Amino acid sequence: MEKIVSLCKRRGFIFPGSEIYGGLANSWDYGPLGVELKNNIKKLWWQMFVHQRDDMVGIDAALLMNPNVWEASGHLGHFSDPLTECKTCHTRLRADELDRVCPNCGGKSFAEVKQFNLMLKTFLGPAEEQANVVYFRPETAQAMFVNFKNVLTTERRTLPFGIAQIGKAFRNEITPGNFIFRTREFEQMEIEYFVHEEEWKKHFQHWQQQMHMWFAATGIAKDQVHEREIPDGERAHYSKRTIDFEFDYPFGTKELYGLAYRTDFDLKNHFKEPPYKDEAGKAFYPHVVEPTWGVDRTILAVLLCAYQEEGERVVLKLHSKLAPYKVAVFPLLRNKPKLVEKAREIYDDLRKRFAVSWDDRGNIGKRYFAQDEIGTPSCITVDFQTLEDASVTVRDRDTMKQERVAIADLAALLAEKIR
Ligand code: GAP
Repeated sequence: MEKIVSLCKRRGFIFPGSEIYGGLANSWDYGPLGVELKNNIKKLWWQMFVHQRDDMVGIDAALLMNPNVWEASGHLGHFSDPLTECKTCHTRLRADELDRVCPNCGGKSFAEVKQFNLMLKTFLGPAEEQANVVYFRPETAQAMFVNFKNVLTTERRTLPFGIAQIGKAFRNEITPGNFIFRTREFEQMEIEYFVHEEEWKKHFQHWQQQMHMWFAATGIAKDQVHEREIPDGERAHYSKRTIDFEFDYPFGTKELYGLAYRTDFDLKNHFKEPPYKDEAGKAFYPHVVEPTWGVDRTILAVLLCAYQEEGERVVLKLHSKLAPYKVAVFPLLRNKPKLVEKAREIYDDLRKRFAVSWDDRGNIGKRYFAQDEIGTPSCITVDFQTLEDASVTVRDRDTMKQERVAIADLAALLAEKIR
């Protein structure tokens, strides 16, 4: 884990938040390569689950919602974790994760357990008074429920269909930590899939399979993923069935994603009248199957699976679709203007279609190593032969094999690798 955290900082994937001011409790900033990886993950998800399906539409809702939303959804009443405090060092701890001993000082005496609500509060407008209290959303899901009728009217959908959203969520976690695994500000990719009640099991199974397809598409190793059926009493207040997809992180096997059958709990709480009518004119409340993905946990799992050490070389074997740069272009020597000019021409041309890195420092070997470490699938070197026959050397990240390719064929070759 330390190696991943260090690589992320060293190579500009993820920096500690507000670092020059001493940081801010487990907040993290995505750097130049991190934002590319994150965007690629979100793009792939949108492609797979929105664009490639005809039963799905997306929304992008406000982070702050009317507090009545959270009253109706049950979050103000029930969205809490059990909190206790070590009587020796006064560290606040989650009672359900405590193993008899304080992880901070070894103390064995704790305060009475209280329920601590995880909603993050702020005020809208200049007066800090109760009437102006609003909450940052703790899940993107509720915006899909409260917009259900808007989507239905504008899109004229019939069951089954889904609404998808990617966006930030906030939770006042008692014990954030383990790098980007648990933070107070994070991002989710969620689907609320609306179905007939009698068909929920079929759709639940479908989404279970889709989540496995996602693991394959992102290179998350299937032998590191385990399904856990969440028993009665442990599920969220809205769920009748939940499966957690857990992942073997270096700090333990813990939740990566979730799949829940939310029944008609949410729509019933938000709409006084049934918001859906079938073709026969019968009004009712659709039921909901909800697959949910954390973006930051995806990044962590993807990086952990991709990270490999091969002798001296550190390589991120990222899926080409997710790699921050698809290709790097080098002139063999930086002090030969003809080579630099030709390499620049290729770089500028490829940049119209791909995310391309440029490097002319040090020797070729060092440049390959630097690109391996950030997961760039291909490196192109422009050498003296290029000036004679318009071909370049293309080196593959995983096999380290080099082949001679005509400049005219480069774009097609790269597109094929990404596909
Ligand atoms: N709408 C359902 C819902 O929010 P959840 O299991 O509480 O379900 C969904 O959250 C996903 O969001 C989790 O599976 C995880 O990937 C991510 N997530 C939840 N809390 C998080 C946190 N504090 N930090 C980072 N990711 C988190």
